[in-house]
Amino acid sequence: MAELLIQNGRIVTCAGNAPKSMEDLNDLNIIENGYVAISSAGMILDTGGGSGDFYRDASTQIIDAGGRVVMPGLVDPHTHAVHYGSRENEIELKLRGVPYLEILKQGGGILSTVRATRSASKDMLSEKLAKTLNTMLLWGTTTVEIKSGYGLNLLDEVKCLEVVRDMDHPIETVRTYMGAHAVPPEYSNNRAAYIDFMLTEVIPYVAHHKLAEFIDCFCEEGVFSIEESEQILRKGAEFGLALKIHADEIEPMGGGELAARVQAVTAEHLVAVSDQGIDDMAAAGTIPILLPGTSFYLKLKTYAPARKMIAKGLPIALASDYNPGSCPTESLQSVMVHAYLGMGLTPAEIINGITINAAHAIRRGHLIGSIEAGKQADIVIMDAPNEQYLIYHFGINHVHTVIKKGKIRVQDGLLKQGGADD
Ligand code: NIG
Ligand code: FE
Repeated sequence: MAELLIQNGRIVTCAGNAPKSMEDLNDLNIIENGYVAISSAGMILDTGGGSGDFYRDASTQIIDAGGRVVMPGLVDPHTHAVHYGSRENEIELKLRGVPYLEILKQGGGILSTVRATRSASKDMLSEKLAKTLNTMLLWGTTTVEIKSGYGLNLLDEVKCLEVVRDMDHPIETVRTYMGAHAVPPEYSNNRAAYIDFMLTEVIPYVAHHKLAEFIDCFCEEGVFSIEESEQILRKGAEFGLALKIHADEIEPMGGGELAARVQAVTAEHLVAVSDQGIDDMAAAGTIPILLPGTSFYLKLKTYAPARKMIAKGLPIALASDYNPGSCPTESLQSVMVHAYLGMGLTPAEIINGITINAAHAIRRGHLIGSIEAGKQADIVIMDAPNEQYLIYHFGINHVHTVIKKGKIRVQDGLLKQGGADD
């Protein structure tokens, strides 16, 4: 029998062979006027057409979806959510034409967030992160990847990763070590020494204490070169970390090719990826994570060549990139609109990109990302009659109900207070 039974919904299951590519990306496997039965363990028992009343007994809680869209909880596979401070001061600089990488070169940008993050206590960081996660949950995100990279020294990188690890919140998090986000000021005249420090001290510590599952590296002009990135990532792999790369975000660097060469799980951003990089990633099975909100907010004029990637068979995933500089938003619903307008993706491609393919991009495809028997009951009910409507009526929050591991966490658009086990 079901503990919870959702009835009368348009069930956008996102089920199918995954990670989804080519024409599968346009298949959402929708059950019209269906149900989802959820067990007391917070798992999906079954989904199908009709009422599902045979799963109902006297103690079953019923949710009448009222014909609304019932879809998998959104998965955000790329964020920089653990940091302190904000950077609204950069708006004026950008209006005066100072480019993003130039602000960083002058000691601002990422480095100004490093200063704020280093001087914040664990409590301050947890309080800010809890607020961020609450916003994400209210907007339909149920799992999020979080990168470090605003501490840079051992103490502050560990502090940030521990804050994420110790967070008591319904949203599940996946941790990535990203010490290679910028060269910190204390090493500005000796970048080789900073790389050596990461290789010999931080990576072994992070791996030994299981502080992260992934390692990431900002491979970019003036940040970390291809050779440096390869060295850092290979060391991470040696210590059992899975690989992610900030590849070809602004300048074409050969980041896609590098991702394939080191067998990365994902290559992320890819606005300036080469055709060779796309081919190499397709051959290696690397998943591209695209971040159209960042192209929009950096006013890059170009977006990652998503249509070309799909034509070459790549299973694209989408993410927010939530961070205080290049994309200060927690909203995957906004990202959906930029994926449509900036990259020409269809509603179905977008929805598969922020659910099932995003789950695969953080190696959780077996657990989350679709509404299928045996998966975790991470489900969002959107106050929308169909999935296209989510992208059409833009700039507002469509979330009606959020269920995480079978528990109702947002009801009628309002957050219910509580930690992971409440
Ligand atoms: O993904 N590229 C590097 N990191 C972030 C931006 C971080 C920041 O500006 O604080 C990004 O765009
Ligand atoms: Fe990023």
